[in-house]
Amino acid sequence: MKKILVTGALGQIGSELTMHLRSIYGADNVVATDIRRLEGNETVESGPFEILDVLDSCSMAEIAKKHEVDTVIHLAALLSAVAEAKPVLAWQINMGGLFNALEVARELKCSFFTPSSIGAFGPSTPRDNTPQDTIQRPGTMYGVTKVSGELLCDYYNKRFGVDTRGVRFPGLISYVTPPGGGTTDYAVDIYYKALEEGKYTSYIGEGTYMDMMYMPDALNAIVNLMEADASKLVHRNAFNITAMSFEPSMIAAEISKHIPGFKMSYEVDPVRQAIADSWPNSIDCTAAKEEWGFSAKYDLASMTEDMLKKLKVKLNIK
Ligand code: SER
Repeated sequence: MKKILVTGALGQIGSELTMHLRSIYGADNVVATDIRRLEGNETVESGPFEILDVLDSCSMAEIAKKHEVDTVIHLAALLSAVAEAKPVLAWQINMGGLFNALEVARELKCSFFTPSSIGAFGPSTPRDNTPQDTIQRPGTMYGVTKVSGELLCDYYNKRFGVDTRGVRFPGLISYVTPPGGGTTDYAVDIYYKALEEGKYTSYIGEGTYMDMMYMPDALNAIVNLMEADASKLVHRNAFNITAMSFEPSMIAAEISKHIPGFKMSYEVDPVRQAIADSWPNSIDCTAAKEEWGFSAKYDLASMTEDMLKKLKVKLNIK
């Protein structure tokens, strides 16, 4: 990766990934794009930034050509709960945007990364230690776009030789930019509410296990996969990766160690609960470890300590 185009650069992953890539590859070599410009935003101000609607294929190609990029990191997409509320829009954005980005990569001979998700699995997938290669019959529009996306990326690799690579991210936890409209977002919200109110009402029920990862591990995973030796990759789209698996009462117990008296209650949202119930409890990431050396540094305890420390500063809480 020498000159990188990022779509969805102001989203949860993009805002941190852009800064991370700029610190490694140089600010001028990472072109951030998003559908909106946020004045004064670090991602907008610290290097090249262009407004881009990923459904506008001409503008995407123009921007990529203008900046002579050799890598496309395509992040713009709707998350699971929003996609379920707006399935038509989700198909248009998640598949239309991906198709346009892949076409740019094909035309300009770029390397390509786009995230898949644990949402690419469904109710008939083995739930525990979910294998890399297994049944993928999701029942959500988000899942449908993720499986279709994995297949499309593999197709572009085999048919056109585009160097496509991806991971199936678990729920991502971060303190910089909140996720919007996902099912795993409770595990981000809980830290804000714990610090602001000392209590949290979870929309995901007790006992619902899902895979999770702290953002620094997710950023390293993207860079390590993109820098990996292509000859070692048996899989491409997309690798299972995870750092931890927990259910709501476990994260509450961990927070209580830092905020004594923290109270957790439950008001289950049937839509997001049904989505969570259709996803694995924990996935197996042996292929990612063997093929490109994936590893994660943060577990629930170390992530919680860091999240609370960083969020206290952000929220100006003493
Ligand atoms: N975190 C995403 C969501 O909850 C899953 O990839 O939608």
